Amino acid sequence: MNLKDRIASKEATVAVVGLGYVGLPLAVRVAEVGLRTYGIDINAQRVGRINEGISDIGDVDSADLAPLVSADLLSAHTDFSVIAKADAVIICVPTPLGKTKDPDISYIVKATDAVSPHMKEGQLFVLESTTYPGFTTEVLAPMLEKASGLKAGEGFHVAFSPERIDPGNETYGVRNTTKIVGAMTAEGGEDVQALYGAFIDTVRVVSSPDAAEMVKLLENTFRAVNIGLVNELALMCHKLGLNTWEVIDAAATKPFGFMPFYPGPGLGGHCIPIDPLYLSWKLRSLNYQARFIELADNINTGMPTYVVRLVQDALNDASKATKGAKVLVLGVAYKNDIDDYRESPAIDIIDLLGEKGADVDFYDPYVPTYVEEGKQYHGIDGLSELESYDIVVIATHHKAFDYASIVSRSQLIVDTRNATRGITEGREKIHLL
Ligand SMILES: NC(=O)c1ccc[n+]([C@@H]2O[C@H](COP(=O)([O-])OP(=O)(O)OC[C@H]3O[C@@H](n4cnc5c(N)ncnc54)[C@H](O)[C@@H]3O)[C@@H](O)[C@H]2O)c1
Repeated sequence: MNLKDRIASKEATVAVVGLGYVGLPLAVRVAEVGLRTYGIDINAQRVGRINEGISDIGDVDSADLAPLVSADLLSAHTDFSVIAKADAVIICVPTPLGKTKDPDISYIVKATDAVSPHMKEGQLFVLESTTYPGFTTEVLAPMLEKASGLKAGEGFHVAFSPERIDPGNETYGVRNTTKIVGAMTAEGGEDVQALYGAFIDTVRVVSSPDAAEMVKLLENTFRAVNIGLVNELALMCHKLGLNTWEVIDAAATKPFGFMPFYPGPGLGGHCIPIDPLYLSWKLRSLNYQARFIELADNINTGMPTYVVRLVQDALNDASKATKGAKVLVLGVAYKNDIDDYRESPAIDIIDLLGEKGADVDFYDPYVPTYVEEGKQYHGIDGLSELESYDIVVIATHHKAFDYASIVSRSQLIVDTRNATRGITEGREKIHLL
């Protein structure tokens, strides 16, 4: 029986390698439609918790996970030998940047090395980890060919399908976000379409893995460049004595030809600060400079320093020095209402203020502690001592914060998110980005 028939008859089994923000919601969704799912992760603790029906990923409720585990539709493993039982293998491991901002593909390479000894003929391999155009065909497929002695497109199929998850988004999840897929052959394209079509409402097939890789990079570059543009707008409005947020909101009343983006303290998360640099790196190897990407990166990575300057100026206006000032950073997560602090600009702001001699605390109900370069940092427990801080920096606009109370009790505020937009009392204390 071919893969399409096995999917249709629910006999197909799926392995998901990497059970993080992307892999776990995906594995749960596959299992929900009744396909036997094997999750694989090198993190034994995470694997253990999943097998107890406990999710530590915000977008997956344990209440949704546990019944799938109990029904034996989903199990987690550290042992890669379960790959041999799978008809399709979906890889969702991290793709960060190295120290020199070059793609770090070592996680995919390690995962592929661990997967390949258990390969069997006829399997479908799908990479979901973000990568540069050409990676799936030029690196992943040859690795699998070498390990198995089979030929990609004949002995097994290879495809790329970018993950489009938006952590914390309650409207769009795995099921109702159109899935882009691109396979190396037409037959592989049919298989990958059948696979995702079994658990995602709409699947869009593009002509190749390279095109699918580029789709993801376009989406994230679009965001990085537009955020870079509004961040520069904030710098320009500051010089002109204008309120950036008022300008953007007024522009957004145009019913066509404009889409609002908002400035902030810098980019964060696993995608937008990183993925466009995969594209610019690839283009550099082809002797082409991706100018928009590099300019946006330059502006966006400068934002934490700009926020620190706003803090210094606000303190200065109050005849206070930054050195020795008590500063509270509110929010460490890179975006509101989630617990992910990867690449968060709030951490850069904390570090930069510390370098200037400020006495910095942070508070985030979602991120009580964070780890940076192997060191753990603890936030304060609550806002009972709010009045004692010389200045408060709103770095993340969590809905859980009571902004009216924060404004009334703080001495000075730098609001990098316009989180205090609804507050009318005490505006003289607020310095907006
Ligand atoms: N988080 C997002 O919002 C998001 C959105 C779109 C795309 N992506 C992309 O998806 C990919 C995965 O991101 P994520 O956010 O899920 O990462 P994550 O760090 O949350 O999860 C990755 C998981 O992979 C596991 N892992 C690492 N090496 C492994 C190996 N060799 N074998 C098996 N498991 C291994 C880790 O233990 C971890 O549980 C990345 O390429 C990322 O760019 C992420």
